[in-house]
Amino acid sequence: MEVILADNLGFCYGVKRAIQLAEDSAAPGQVTNTLGPIIHNPQMVAKLAENGVGTVDSLDEVKEGTIIIRSHGVGPDVYDRVEAMGLNMVDATCPHVRKAQSSAKMLADEGYQVVIIGEKRHPEVKSIIEWAGDGAVAIETEEEADSLPKYGKLGVVAQTTFSAPKFKLIVERLLDKSSDMKILRTICTATDQRQSAAMKLATEVDLMIVIGGKNSANTTRLAQLCSDKCKTYHIETAEELRDDWFDKIKKIGITAGASTPDWIIKEVYKKCQKK
Ligand code: F3S
Repeated sequence: MEVILADNLGFCYGVKRAIQLAEDSAAPGQVTNTLGPIIHNPQMVAKLAENGVGTVDSLDEVKEGTIIIRSHGVGPDVYDRVEAMGLNMVDATCPHVRKAQSSAKMLADEGYQVVIIGEKRHPEVKSIIEWAGDGAVAIETEEEADSLPKYGKLGVVAQTTFSAPKFKLIVERLLDKSSDMKILRTICTATDQRQSAAMKLATEVDLMIVIGGKNSANTTRLAQLCSDKCKTYHIETAEELRDDWFDKIKKIGITAGASTPDWIIKEVYKKCQKK
């Protein structure tokens, strides 16, 4: 069986950095927690827990020790609260996310109505809204863009992992909403690169295996894009591979979301080669 890995796949810079910071923060006898799962990958979260880095959903669950801010970032209130509680803080916010947050804050400070193009319920978008302050709105479709009123000054930022072509379509629909518009294209290239490489590979193979957390938005998006081109399965681990998927298949392509650890990609690769 021929198995081909996408040119760009797996951990991005921000995730690698966050995992490294979390691993470095673990110290015997000390309480260390990430605020929310460090990345949307249950296997990696479990591995960190084995090494002494737990997960809490809220600061209410923490009394002492180190709190790690994950790559998705948080709003300013969390920084204030961590300081007031006297906790040790390790900030693993991805620098690209930090840039989106500070861009939104800058636009709000300059009197722009801030519009964030991204998934409203994603933790990163929530954090950007909190930095922009009351009144910032998040939209994710062209229809939502159409339904916005006209503004004196309109400032636009993007969720870092948002689809670049979709961002462009939505921005086009916003152009007549204000005569004073500032657009800050805060999309991170890691997402674009993974999506382009996956789509290219999906046109060259009979079957695509997309590896990553079922709760990972960027992995799910990769699976959607690949399924437009060829038969595609989204899995979290090698154990999910089923023999009947490989009937009459000659070439398999593999890609993985930005939060998928290398060791899982290797396991899937090896197992596919034996099919
Ligand atoms: Fe950061 Fe881009 Fe990864 S925003 S967390 S480098 S996908």
